[in-house]
Amino acid sequence: MQRCPEPELMNASDQVLAYAEADFSAGDQTVLEGLLALIDHSCVTLPPGSLILDLGCGPGNISERLASCWPLSDVIGIDGASAMISVANQRRFTRKPAIQNLKYQHIDLSRCCLDDLEPIRGASVIVSNSLLHHLHNPHTLWDAVKQLAAPNAFILHRDLRRPSTVQEVDALCDRYVSGAPAVLQRDFRASLMAAFTAVEVCEQLVLAGLSQFTVKEIGDRYLEVSGRWRS
Ligand SMILES: C[S@@+](CC[C@H](N)C(=O)[O-])C[C@H]1O[C@@H](n2cnc3c(N)ncnc32)[C@H](O)[C@@H]1O
Repeated sequence: MQRCPEPELMNASDQVLAYAEADFSAGDQTVLEGLLALIDHSCVTLPPGSLILDLGCGPGNISERLASCWPLSDVIGIDGASAMISVANQRRFTRKPAIQNLKYQHIDLSRCCLDDLEPIRGASVIVSNSLLHHLHNPHTLWDAVKQLAAPNAFILHRDLRRPSTVQEVDALCDRYVSGAPAVLQRDFRASLMAAFTAVEVCEQLVLAGLSQFTVKEIGDRYLEVSGRWRS
């Protein structure tokens, strides 16, 4: 089945609201645990003041977990959708106790220039969840990793992977979102159709000079890219 890209940014108000209200906690926790395992495996402790980036952070659900898990690090969530950044900021300001080591920046990774990225370079950790499939050109993500990562940075990107047939898309929609609000059902289907296969991601990494990263298929619908950035 051919890839069918969806709009990159999630700015529509019904979409932002439905996404912010949905419970993605199981997937969010998987990202956190994957990252903890990657760091533990290297027997490294993140030094205080390390910069952690959450690219395509949406309403900030994963950024918040990262900030709580590494309270001495600086976590920055990046999103190109101003509506998502404003929800993320509202959540940050209303949370008690306030999360001190978290902030958000409105940056469209597909349209930014090197100067926009300068203040967030040198990251020790770069994660993204469900960003890659939104990008019309996947090299936007891989170029961002190369520009933003400090030497030996930990990298973890999790996303949906594209099924082989429309029948498989239907089956996954039935299994996972049949009871969800209509906007989430529509977005899940669109995301499956827009996602990359693990083989395509491996090809992207070779082209980007990032073939040191591991690509794993997880369960019936995810893939994960992880490793350490070596320039
Ligand atoms: C499916 S949401 C995932 C949000 C969050 N990572 C999570 O797991 O809940 C994808 C997010 O990526 C953002 N995004 C898509 N293209 C982007 C780009 N070019 N630059 C920055 N953010 C982008 C969208 O606006 C959206 O908020």
